[in-house]
Amino acid sequence: MYLERGILISMLIFLIFRFCTCIDTITLTQPLKDGDILVSNGENFALGFFSPPNSTNRYVGIWYNKISDQTVVWVANRDNPITNSFGILSVDETGNLVLQENDQSFVFWSTNVSEVVKDVVTAQLLDSGNLVLFQGQNKDVYSRQSFDHPSNSILPDMKLGIDRKTGLKRVFTSWKSSENPGVENYSHKMELVGSPQLLLFQGTTKVWWTGSSTGRGWSGIPEMDGKYLYNITYINNDDEVVIIYQMRNSSIISRLVVTESRTMDRLTWNEAAHKWIRFWSAPKDQCDGYNHCGPFGLCDLYKLGTFECDCFPGYEPQSPNDWYLRDGSKGCKIKVGTQMCQVGDGFVELNRVKVPDTSNAHVNMSLGLKECEGMCLGDCTCMGYASADITKEAKDGGCVMWYGDMIDTRTFSNGGQSFYVRVYAAELGM
Ligand SMILES: *[C@@H]1O[C@H](CO)[C@@H](O)[C@H](O)[C@H]1NC(C)=O
Ligand SMILES: *[C@@H]1O[C@H](CO)[C@@H](O)[C@H](O)[C@H]1NC(C)=O
Ligand SMILES: *[C@@H]1O[C@H](CO)[C@@H](O)[C@H](O)[C@H]1NC(C)=O
Ligand SMILES: *[C@@H]1O[C@H](CO)[C@@H](O)[C@H](O)[C@H]1NC(C)=O
Ligand SMILES: *[C@@H]1O[C@H](CO)[C@@H](O)[C@H](O)[C@H]1NC(C)=O
Ligand SMILES: *[C@@H]1O[C@H](CO)[C@@H](O)[C@H](O)[C@H]1NC(C)=O
Repeated sequence: MYLERGILISMLIFLIFRFCTCIDTITLTQPLKDGDILVSNGENFALGFFSPPNSTNRYVGIWYNKISDQTVVWVANRDNPITNSFGILSVDETGNLVLQENDQSFVFWSTNVSEVVKDVVTAQLLDSGNLVLFQGQNKDVYSRQSFDHPSNSILPDMKLGIDRKTGLKRVFTSWKSSENPGVENYSHKMELVGSPQLLLFQGTTKVWWTGSSTGRGWSGIPEMDGKYLYNITYINNDDEVVIIYQMRNSSIISRLVVTESRTMDRLTWNEAAHKWIRFWSAPKDQCDGYNHCGPFGLCDLYKLGTFECDCFPGYEPQSPNDWYLRDGSKGCKIKVGTQMCQVGDGFVELNRVKVPDTSNAHVNMSLGLKECEGMCLGDCTCMGYASADITKEAKDGGCVMWYGDMIDTRTFSNGGQSFYVRVYAAELGM
C-alpha cells in the first residue's frame, strides 16, 4: 500500500516536471502582464518582464530558460523602459504586438506592422528564441519575427545579413552598459558594397572586418576551422545574402554578442561552473584594427621589435616621417620612379594573409586561379587577386580581383590565405 502510494506520488512528480504546462503564446484574449512568463515549447527560452542589474526599469526580453544566471538575448523596448510594474504586452486589433501600461496611455514598443491583418494573430515564442507574430488559425503566415529585428546577440539558426527582396537589414547593436539595454553605437552587420562583407562599426566608422569568405570561414579569422563548435552556411543568391551559424552539438549553449566594450564575443555556457566562458573575441590585436596600416599597407605582428606596418612589395610609405613615428594610417604608395603597366608586370605571392577589404573587389566564381591571374594582368586597374574559395582546387576556386586602394591587409602566423599583389617589371627582377 505504502509502496503503491510512493510510486503514484513519484509518477505525479515526474508528470508535473516532465510536461510543462507553460504558455508560449500571446493572443488578443491572452495578454502578458509584468510577472507572467512565456516559455517556449522545448523550454529553451523564456519571455517576460525583467530589470537589468542595478536597475528598477522594466523591459520585455527573451532569456535562456535553462540557465540560472539570467542572460537576456533580446529586448523589445530597449530605449523606452517602463518605470512601474504595470506593463502589459498584448496583441491589439490591428494585429500588432504592443507594449503599454495598463492605462494604455503610451506605447512603449510595437511590432509596427502596417498591413491590414484580418485574420487571427498569435505571438509565439519558439524554441530557437525567436518571437514570431503569426497570422491565421494554422499559423502559416508570419508578419514579424524578433530574429529579423535583433538586439545584441546572434543565436544559432538566426540569419545575419540582408533580404534583397524586402531590403530588410539585420543589424546587431550592443547595449549601452550591463545596466542599460539601450541601443549603443557599436553594431555588427553585413554591407553590400563590392563583395558582401561582415563588419563591426562604431557609428559609421569601421572598427573590424571579418575578412572575405574563404569557403571555410573568414580570411580574417584563421582560427575558425572545421573543428569549431559551430559551422557556417553562407547564402548569396537573388533573394538574400546571409550567413547562419549552427551548433554542431545542439546541446551546447552558445551565442555571439556585440559587447559594450566594442568587441564581438563568442560565449558558451559552462553548466558545471555556472558561468559564461569567452570562447573567442575580436578585434584581438593592433593588426585587427580596421585599416591600421593604411592603403597598400600590410600589418605584420611577427616582425619582432619593429613597427608592425609594412608596405606591399613595390610600394613605399606615403609619409616616411609618420612611418618613423610609427603611425601607419597614411599607408603606402607605388615606389617613386616605377612605371605603371609596362610589359613585364607580374605578381608577388603573399602567404597567410587576411586579404584586402573587398568593397572595391570583384568576385567571379567561374574563373580559376590561373585565368584570374591573366584577367588581372590584362587590366591595368587590377591591383591584386586571390582565390575566392580555398577549400577547392585552384582551377575551380573562383577569383577575387581588387581595383583601387587595397586596405586592411594583415598576416597571420598560421591560416589566412595566399594573396597575389601586382608589381611592376622592375620589382620582379630583384
Ligand atoms: C551594480 O552596482 C555595483 C555598485 O555600484 C557594482 O559594483 C556592480 O558591478 C554593478 N553590477 C553590474 C552588473 O553592473
Ligand atoms: C513605426 O513605423 C513608423 C514608420 O515606418 C516609424 O516612424 C515609427 O517610429 C515606428 N514605431 C515604432 C514603435 O517602431
Ligand atoms: C557614436 O559614434 C560616433 C563616431 O562614429 C560619435 O561621434 C558619437 O558621439 C557616438 N555616439 C554615442 C551616443 O556614443
Ligand atoms: C551544420 O550543422 C548542423 C547540425 O549538425 C547541420 O544540420 C547542418 O547541415 C550543417 N551545415 C553545414 C553547412 O555544414
Ligand atoms: C554534446 O554536448 C553535451 C553537453 O556538453 C555532451 O554531454 C555530449 O556528449 C555532446 N555530444 C556529442 C555527440 O559530442
Ligand atoms: C566571369 O568571367 C567569365 C570569363 O571571363 C565571364 O564570361 C563572366 O561574365 C564573368 N562573370 C562575372 C559575374 O563577371
